[in-house]
Parts: sequence; C-alpha cells; structure tokens
Amino acid sequence: MSDLLIRGRVLTFVSEPQGIDDGDSYRFYEDGAVLVRNGKIAGVGSYGDVARQAGQGVRIADHRPHLVMPGLIDTHLHFPQTQAIASYGAQLLEWLNTYIFVEEQKFELSEHAAFIAGRFMDELISNGTTSAVAYCSVHPESVDAFFTAAEERNMLMIGGKVLMDRNAPEALRDTPQRGYDETKRLIASWHGRGRAHYAISPRFAITSTPEQMEMSRALVAEHPDCYVQTHLSENRDEIAFATSLYPQARDYTDIYARYSLLGRKTLLGHCIHLSDGELSVLADTGAVGVFCPTSNLFLGSGLFDRDRFDKLGARHSVATDVGAGTSFSMLETMGEAYKVLHLQGQRLSPLNSFYMMTLGNARALELEHRIGSLHIGADADIVVLDSRAKSAMELRMQVASSLAEELFILQTMGDDRCVAEVYVAGCAMKRRRETVGAHQAN
Ligand code: GUN
Ligand code: FE
Repeated sequence: MSDLLIRGRVLTFVSEPQGIDDGDSYRFYEDGAVLVRNGKIAGVGSYGDVARQAGQGVRIADHRPHLVMPGLIDTHLHFPQTQAIASYGAQLLEWLNTYIFVEEQKFELSEHAAFIAGRFMDELISNGTTSAVAYCSVHPESVDAFFTAAEERNMLMIGGKVLMDRNAPEALRDTPQRGYDETKRLIASWHGRGRAHYAISPRFAITSTPEQMEMSRALVAEHPDCYVQTHLSENRDEIAFATSLYPQARDYTDIYARYSLLGRKTLLGHCIHLSDGELSVLADTGAVGVFCPTSNLFLGSGLFDRDRFDKLGARHSVATDVGAGTSFSMLETMGEAYKVLHLQGQRLSPLNSFYMMTLGNARALELEHRIGSLHIGADADIVVLDSRAKSAMELRMQVASSLAEELFILQTMGDDRCVAEVYVAGCAMKRRRETVGAHQAN
C-alpha cells in the first residue's frame, strides 16, 4: 500500500487537559497533516513539514477545513443490543428481563449474529469510533461473528462471550464448565489474532453463581493479558439483589474482589452508587469505572460522580453502553456526559471530553502505544470531523473563536453527520470524501 498524506486541521492529545484551555495537553496544527505508511502513523505536524517528509508522488486526502483526530474509542457496549436501543419505560432489572434477554436469544442463530455484527461495525465506523469493547451474547457463535466482522474491517476490537448461569432464561444460560470451556476455545481462536483482544465477560454478579465466578477467576489467572468486563453498582435494586446473593461480601465491589477479578485490565460498567471504600478498592487495584452517560439517564440509574473518582485516584473511561445507551455516537455521549456532570456541579471541559474519547480511553485500555493518539508508530485509526455538518452548527460556528469552542459545539450539537471520513489502519472507510486524489505534495 502506498503512503497516504491526510491533510486537515490536526489535533491530538499528549496528556490529560487540566482546565478549560491547557495548551500543553495537545498538539494542534491549523494546516496540518498525518503521513500514513503501512497502516501506521509515519509523520505528523504542519503540512509543509510532513509533505516534505513524504516526498513526491504521495497520495493526498485533503480534508481541509475539517479536524483530523485519532479515531474515537468506546469502552463499553453490547453488540447483541443493536436492535434493542429505545426499549421503553423500564429500569435496569425489568429492562433486562423484558427486552434484553429476549433480544439476545436471537443470537443463537449464526446468520443473525453475522448480520448484526456487520451492521454494528459499520455503525461504529459511521460514528467515528474505530475501536470498542463489547459484550457478545452467551453464544460462542456471536463472538465468532463479532471478531469476523471486525477482522473484515481490520478494526482493533475487544470483546467476549457473556458468562451467565443463573437469573436469566434457560436459553441464555451456560454452566460454569461450559462457560469456561467455551471461553478458553474463543481465547485460543481470537485473542491476539490480528487486532483482536479477548475480554473475559461475567455479565454481573446477579447472573453468575459462585461456581461460575470461580471459573472466571481461573480464566483470568490463566489469561492475565485478556481484559475482564462486568457491570458494577448501576442501580439500587441491582445492588440489593447482587449483595443478597453474596452475603459474605462486604459490598458489591467486594464480590468481584473476592474472585480476583479486579486489575488494570478490568472494566466495570457504571459504578454510580459506590462508597468511598469501594472506590478506594478500584483505585488500589487499577480497575476502571466506565461512565455511560446516555445509558444512565435512559434507564434512570443515576449520575456518575467523576470528581469523586479523581479525588480517590480511581481510573475511569467513557462509553455508550448501547443498547441501554441511546446512541452509537461518542460525540453525543460526551454531550450527555457534560450534562450529567453539570447536574452535580462538575465541569467537563471540551478539551477534556475529546481527550477522554481518544487518549483517555486508550490509556484506560492500556493501549496508548497503539490507539487514541497520532504519535509516530501508532495504528493509523483516524476520524475526520466536520464542525459545520448541520446548518445550525454552521451558524453557530460563524461566531466561534477558539478550538475549545469548536470542540464544545461538536460534542453539544454533533452526531454521525459530523463524521466526514474514518480511516481504519490507514484505510478510508467512508465514501463521503471531499477531495481525495493522486495529487502531488509540494
Ligand atoms: N447489567 C447487566 N447486564 C447489563 C446490560 O446489558 N446493560 C446494562 N446497562 N446493565 C447491565
Ligand atoms: Fe452494559
């Protein structure tokens, strides 16, 4: 594949922004470019410098005046819930039983799983999301469909078969041994193949017996380089039910701690109603609390307290949580994150939002060497954002005077219409390119 020079207003973060305009936290090139070679970033900087580095004859994709940024990252969503978004009127446990456990049964059929997996990946790409961490259904075939669809698009994806052996319909239950065997087989098939990473996925304490939690412990011990994903402290009824099932545990977090499931590669969805003691356990183990603003509002679950995470030194990331989450768009998700924090008197600066969707989430996944930034050697996963994609945005942009203001407009008013192009490992994935041709760089 020949080199590609992507021209536009290039933005990438190098550290977490502190305050509204922390100029040290990012690099911005108003007339910038990214040089892509063999699916990796080979150069980044001002257009003049990078064009000189690229030399004659390089292909150019000219995206001016759009922003060129690292691809967005979603750290928690459910691929079998793609057709269950907007299921009406219930909080978590009723919502799961009424809608989700019905929907997920459809993934017994490989054809259905393959169809949804393809559409799911395309939806992520349409929204500028180039990597995500997803739950599959209990059926191993759903995991094959998921990673096959990711591989066809060369996307770096993390996922795994949900483990559930109680409090779910018979058709969605495995057993501790079957869940273990199937997970082992899937890890052997997929983990480390191309860009695939496996996540050991006990759904949550309510749907796993102590025996299955023991099996999860064994899986994690045998595969320390795999991720772990589960749900924690999303809803008051859930917390009461979970802790009643594990009466020896001090609290909900302690259930997972007792089975050695907490570590730096553990992603804990929601974490809304945690005590300071539980947050300190997260901080001590390095486990990541995943903030899912649209989901938490949609299910009426509560408000994620980011300041308390920061105060107690616990790690966090951000995610859509489709299908309780209402949008695949990380832009819309950050728009809602701003409101959730605002309701609690907290500030989320636009720079911090864009950091979270990119380098912040990559760091939460311990993948900052690969994704989430445009540093040389990183995978060339890139999103091109049009801040004037909607007429109301175009009007608003007429009076915008800073980069931070533009980013805030994007996250407050933007959605998939703002995604002008997406590159996955250097390959253009959308047809909406403005000016892509074999120009000469000079
Ligand atoms: N807790 C256990 N399973 C789920 C799920 O599928 N979605 C959400 N939002 N919470 C859960
Ligand atoms: Fe979830």
